[in-house]
Amino acid sequence: MQKLLIEGGHVLNGQVRVSGAKNSAVALLPASILADSPVTIEGLPQISDVGTLSDLLEEIGGTVNWEGQTLTVNPERMIAMPLPNGKVKKLRASYYFMGAMLGKFKKAVIGLPGGCFLGPRPIDQHIKGFEALGAEVTNEQGAIYLRANELRGARIYLDVVSVGATINIMLAAVRAKGKTIIENAAKEPEIIDVATLLTNMGAKIKGVGTDVIRIEGVPELHGCRHTIIPDRIEAGTYTIAAAAQGKEVIIDNVITNHIEALLAKLREMGVRMEESGEQLLIAPQDSLKSVDIKTLVYPGFPTDLQQPFTSLLTKAENTGIVIDTIYSARLKHIDELRRMNAKIKVEGGSVIVSGPTQLQGAKVKATDLRAGAALIVAGLMANGVTEITGVEHIDRGYEFITDKLRALGANIWREEMTEQEMKQFQNS
Ligand code: EPU
Repeated sequence: MQKLLIEGGHVLNGQVRVSGAKNSAVALLPASILADSPVTIEGLPQISDVGTLSDLLEEIGGTVNWEGQTLTVNPERMIAMPLPNGKVKKLRASYYFMGAMLGKFKKAVIGLPGGCFLGPRPIDQHIKGFEALGAEVTNEQGAIYLRANELRGARIYLDVVSVGATINIMLAAVRAKGKTIIENAAKEPEIIDVATLLTNMGAKIKGVGTDVIRIEGVPELHGCRHTIIPDRIEAGTYTIAAAAQGKEVIIDNVITNHIEALLAKLREMGVRMEESGEQLLIAPQDSLKSVDIKTLVYPGFPTDLQQPFTSLLTKAENTGIVIDTIYSARLKHIDELRRMNAKIKVEGGSVIVSGPTQLQGAKVKATDLRAGAALIVAGLMANGVTEITGVEHIDRGYEFITDKLRALGANIWREEMTEQEMKQFQNS
């Protein structure tokens, strides 16, 4: 096990290239199950969640062939292998095997997914969708069993706007008989990316990017080639780091429209930025003004950037209030930021950050992926050395983060944890 160390205070300068989107990748890989011939996906990030899903595709009989960032999945020999335990529990997105295997084989057994602890993360809307399409769904000893004689298109209203449920229902519906309408669908760019892949495979989907998606089922889907979209959350994280500690940083391979809510808030804080094609320049600024943020479904402020943004607020003048309406319990970074001298309190569902505060390096723990990103942003700004454990969470979602930050001038490195540190970490 490794820990991450950051000597704070070094100015970030230069260019960083954004990788392929994690939350697209984790749906595109399972979507390949639905094809009857090989699917090639270009630009995939080398992160542990992608590795785990690629292993799962092999477990069900697929062959996977990596060439750099390009993966070709041959689904021809895949079978409806039950996956009640094992690697499915390592990440959230393994739930996309439910929709994809149900769509292809009309049956699936998938262990309830793991992933970051952000408070309760029910999958009732996924199940509501599968049932509406004609599947019988049961929960037996922690695994979801799905069976259907045939899947028939249906009209499905999501009670909660859910990225996962929208994608999962799309996966099951593209090979169902007849027309499916998903109402109150999520509109995230990753959903459009998955629909683009499915359309290239021969699916008939209309309305993605709006809150009503219409799908006309087809009997079979074929292989294709697809290039993944850039990761808007990774882009947002580096943009926040640049606002916190940058001189002149260029974020390359970014679709700025995808992070408009973040950019609007940074402009309010006084951060100067210039957009040019696929690049975003973040210029130096002397002082920042606090702002309030409330996370919302896309195109609102993304919950996945709430934690790193909270670290940035410690540098801003006055008081900023952060409310996460998607995951109200996504607050595990707060105690760790306090260890670093941040003036933060939680009242009701609001996080109140007072600044500006000079953060101090400390030993802290990343309890989930974006909490890890928040601690890295804090570590870059802090006096002295910050030691972050729980690095495996960060490696689930950020490709080459140490190398990318070093290239920008950060003093960040990894060390193996000693046995004593591992024991302390496991008991904490
Ligand atoms: N919800 C339900 N019932 C459901 C599904 C969701 O009540 O059946 C609730 C959730 O509890 C939450 C809200 O609806 O309060 C939104 O959840 P959603 O289903 O949209 O989240 P998700 O699909 O499980 C994805 C990302 C998350 C990101 C959320 C919100 C993936 C693999 N994960 O999760 O990403 O926070 O959308 O945008 O795409 C991350 O990247 O760090 C991460 C956690």
